[in-house]
Amino acid sequence: MGFKVAVVGATGNVGREMLAALAEREFPCDEVIALASSRSIGRQVSFGEDDILDVQVLDNFDFKGVDIVLSSPGAKVSAAFAPRAAKAGAIVIDNTSQWRMDPDVPLVVPEVNPQAIKGYEKKGIIANPNCSTIQMVVALKPLHDLAKIKRVVVATYQSVSGGGRAAMDELFAQTRSVYVNDPIKPEVLTKQIAFNVIPHIDVFMADGSTKEEWKMAVETRKILDPDIAVTATCVRVPVFIGHAEAVNVEFEQPLSEVQARSALKKAPGVIVVDHRADEGYVTPAEAAGEDAVYVSRIRKDPTVPNGLNLWVVSDNLRKGAALNAVQIAEVLARDYLKSAVAAPARAL
Ligand SMILES: NC(=O)c1ccc[n+]([C@@H]2O[C@H](COP(=O)([O-])OP(=O)(O)OC[C@H]3O[C@@H](n4cnc5c(N)ncnc54)[C@H](OP(=O)(O)O)[C@@H]3O)[C@@H](O)[C@H]2O)c1
Repeated sequence: MGFKVAVVGATGNVGREMLAALAEREFPCDEVIALASSRSIGRQVSFGEDDILDVQVLDNFDFKGVDIVLSSPGAKVSAAFAPRAAKAGAIVIDNTSQWRMDPDVPLVVPEVNPQAIKGYEKKGIIANPNCSTIQMVVALKPLHDLAKIKRVVVATYQSVSGGGRAAMDELFAQTRSVYVNDPIKPEVLTKQIAFNVIPHIDVFMADGSTKEEWKMAVETRKILDPDIAVTATCVRVPVFIGHAEAVNVEFEQPLSEVQARSALKKAPGVIVVDHRADEGYVTPAEAAGEDAVYVSRIRKDPTVPNGLNLWVVSDNLRKGAALNAVQIAEVLARDYLKSAVAAPARAL
């Protein structure tokens, strides 16, 4: 017997990738249930090569008998349904921002802090970090282990798929409008995104930073080390899928480029592409649809005693969301849940 798995937000960008990752990685499911809002009554979603699932409505769904819930319906919806699902006995792996900083909810990137998963026992909920945080901490972890990171300065170049299906549609429609000379009226994002960049993701905080920038700082500390200082500038760019990050890292101890490159090459989930030549680095369009966190442009920052610069790129819907959640489910199934079918021990 395998697991009964429910995917909440199954019609969305992240939910569809969750279904794809479950099928591709052959997660041992006996039954998969697709849940979304009442807007999706009558819709179907595909699962794997052959299966079609009827979408069911979350509001009145009974989670009794469900082992694992992969969730991405937005923070407010998660606040309402996740405790209900956990009370019914399911373990919720949640992609929204709702539970990430709850001290009783572990915030997990399996390559970085798999041991934290055990904390699910407190509330029955495990949080998936923000997409920009996930790819950054996967790249930082092997370096932190070598030379202890003191401070990170990061600028992000985040694709519109991070804002959901509606933001992708807006980039498509605005791009067309530019070519046919139609007026542009931003509706989902705050300003024109076609042929433009917007230094504003999520709401503004009292100190002038945005909540996306705050998330990168507090989540990195919760996952990797509470002593790391992080300052971020998060920018939406006219790319459909794939986030890029220019990351400047300051270490406590010296760490050469050679040592960093060698550690990153051995790190789980990381692929180093760094040839210092045309095409010798990875861009978001090339990372879309892939599982890895790509690290390029590894070089010394000569302006501080122990500094390095990196270019980090990954598919925000896969490693930044769905894949990370399915990897958490794999560790959970393998190390914490009893099933007659052994969960696959996939390489991270
Ligand atoms: N995109 C990313 O890179 C990324 C990364 C990490 C985390 N996240 C988080 O994941 C969540 C979803 O992101 P997304 O990109 O998949 O958004 P999306 O494409 O807009 O999809 C939203 C999904 O949530 C469902 N939903 C909305 N309201 C609901 C309700 N009241 N009850 C049940 N289901 C409801 C939608 O169902 P309907 O089709 O029925 O409306 C849809 O399936 C967000 O919280 C986001 O912050 C996204």
